[in-house]
Formats: sequence, structure tokens, C-alpha cells
Amino acid sequence: MRLKDTGVSSQELKDMVSKYMIETYERFDFIAETAKGMYIYDEKGDAYLDFYGGVAVNSVGNVNERVLEAIKDQAADIMHTFNYPYTIPQALLAKLICDTIGMDKIFFQNSGTEANEGMIKLARKYGTDNFGPERYHIVTATKGFHGRTFGALSATGQPGTALHNGFGPLLEGFKFAEFNNLDSFRDACDENTIAIMLEPIQGEGGVNPATDEFMTGIRDLCDEKGMLLLLDEIQTGWGRTGTVMAYQGYDVKPDIVTMAKAMGGGMPIGAMCASDKVAKSFGMGTHGSTYAGHALSCAAAYAACNEIIEKKLPENAEIMGNYFMEKLSTLPHIKEVRGKGLLIGVEFDSDKAVEIKHRCLDKKLLLTAIGKRVIRTIPPLVLDKADIDKAFLILKESVEESYAIKH
Ligand SMILES: Cc1ncc(COP(=O)(O)O)c(C=O)c1O
Repeated sequence: MRLKDTGVSSQELKDMVSKYMIETYERFDFIAETAKGMYIYDEKGDAYLDFYGGVAVNSVGNVNERVLEAIKDQAADIMHTFNYPYTIPQALLAKLICDTIGMDKIFFQNSGTEANEGMIKLARKYGTDNFGPERYHIVTATKGFHGRTFGALSATGQPGTALHNGFGPLLEGFKFAEFNNLDSFRDACDENTIAIMLEPIQGEGGVNPATDEFMTGIRDLCDEKGMLLLLDEIQTGWGRTGTVMAYQGYDVKPDIVTMAKAMGGGMPIGAMCASDKVAKSFGMGTHGSTYAGHALSCAAAYAACNEIIEKKLPENAEIMGNYFMEKLSTLPHIKEVRGKGLLIGVEFDSDKAVEIKHRCLDKKLLLTAIGKRVIRTIPPLVLDKADIDKAFLILKESVEESYAIKH
């Protein structure tokens, strides 16, 4: 939809939003009307350089041609059906994902949080089936983020924040342990713990990568105690960190892994993959969703996942990520630059992140602040060095202005 065809002005549109919508996000003050590749355009045609990537979704670039064609073709054939018939995009996507990431089985969902709900449910069912009804406890990491629905929210290790406050009681059966601290996880697990659930790199928690020793230690701990390793790769999956799934870069294999965001190429879809042994616990009638495996979303995801593989976007994420991180570490007032591939966090030495984000927005660079000190960049994986150079210059200028460094 184009604004000019609606008879509504920019201001009227914004007023409509504040009058009619329940707003839970701070708005960036521009209208995203169209997009292509690395750019989003407003109704005046002004271009915004996209280092936000629709929150790590638009990995194949905004309005990717292959995804667009797949959506058009599939929409003309069939968009949605009830759950019982076979559909072509569902089957092809299931095979592509399982074969690519070395998992046995997949269950499609509609979003990240829903994929995590499925993962939590499957782990609990596996615990009950194999050990009895007491064994349903899950240990997750402090500063983790797993979504906004009740299971995923209860697994989110950020008590006392706006995510949790006022929504109690949350689901029982979750304990938090310190991320990257194996002893803390060992202490938190007992005979009723069925699983450990983690993001390999915490995204919303400030871009905190797990160390290699921690990830292999967690896998060993799970094996030792007969627990499942559940990985939330909603943000890290499908190329962002330099491998298709981040766990492939850690050389560990989860029992269940979730994905969403990038896999859909811009369409809403999520999924949970599991080993045969664990997947068996979801028998007929145990789990479901009207839209799970939606034909149109699956067709878009099939195009997006093929694009990620064929265009070697994980490799590009690694090369460009290293290039960007090297540049970022030359910024003034940096405490730390951390991340993997193109999931990068820059921590500043004082509470400047929000101001820097706004200054970047004024200069038409889109990125996000996490908390008061961290700027996160999660751009489309199709970017090149020229995009990075441009973003870096804007960011540098914005940092200098924020700290009032004069040249
Ligand atoms: C690691 C992780 N898990 C889960 C979610 C929730 O996904 P969704 O917003 O699609 O429900 C997110 C969203 O940012 C995420 O980063």
C-alpha cells in the first residue's frame, strides 16, 4: 500500500496509530512504505540503511526477488488449508531444513515464541513419558530471552523487568542459572530437571556469545544427567552467526532446536526440530496450531532457506562480521565489541546507547539499542563492505556527537 493512494497524510496516519493502536514499542518517527535489499524507503522516497533487518528477519535482504516470486506463485495456487492434506511447500521445506541442519524431524509453528512453546511442551512430554510426571523442570540462563507467551516468558531469565512485572504468576518449573557459568547450571539441575534451554548467543540480553567450553560443558552435563539440550536459535539461526545454525559453529548438537525470523524471508513462520528419540513424544493430538505449516509461509521459507544456502550467506555473515567488528573496535568510548557473524553488540562506557541510536536514525541508519549501553546491529546478511563502511561512518559520527567530541 502506498500512502498517496489512501487519501491520508503522514501526520493523519501517525495520529490514527496513536488513537487506535495499543502501543508497546517506541516508534521510530518514519513510515516504512517500501523496501529493497539493504534499504527501507519512506513515503517521501527517503532511504534508510537497514542494520536492523526487521529484527534479524530480513536476512536475504528486504523484498528478496526469489521470496517475492515464491509468494506470488503460491498465493495464486493455495495459501492456507486445514492441517490434514499434504502440501507441497511444507514437505519440501521440512526435508530441506532437516537435511541441512542434521536433525531428524520438524514441527512448524508461526513465530519464535510459539516455536519455543512447542519445544518446552515437547521436553516436558518427553520427561513425563520416559521418567514420570515429576520430571518437567527446565533450567535456563539469566539475561536470556525466549518470547512473550507464558511458557517462553517463564523461561526468560529476566525477572524484575518489564518483560515479567505484572504478569504473574508465571509458569512453574523454571530455574535460572548464570550464562557462561557451568557450575551455576550444574548447581541448578536436580533429579527433576529434564532440560537445559539456552540461546547460543543471547541476542535481546545484550549480545552475549556462549564460550566454546560452556557449550560443550552444557552438552556433557545434559548427557551425564539424561537431560535434553534445548537451543533457541530464533535469532541466531539460518546464517546469522557464520554457520547455518549457530550450534554448528560450537560443534554441539541439541536434542531440540527452534528457529524463526530469517527462515521466513520476511513471512511469519517458526519451527522446532528434534531428534527422532525426542520427537516420538508428540503423538497424534498432542500438539497443533491452525496455521502450523501454512502453505504460503512455507513457500516463502523454502525460497529464503535455499537463497541462504545457495548464496552462501552464512559465509558472507562471517566475513562481513569480522570486517565490521574490526572497524567497530576503533570507535571511541568502547567497553567491548562482541558477537559472532552479523549479530554484533557494541558496549559503550556510559549510558549513551539510546542517544546514539536516535542520532543514527536522524542520519537514516537503522539500528537498535539494548538497555542503556549496548548498540546491536543485525543487518541483512546480503550486505557488502560498502554498506558497512557507510553505516560505520554514520555510527562513528553519532558516537562522537553523543560524547560531544569535536574535531
Ligand atoms: C532468542 C529469541 N527467542 C525468541 C524470540 C521470540 O520470537 P518472536 O518475536 O517471533 O515470538 C526472539 C525474538 O526476538 C528471540 O530473539
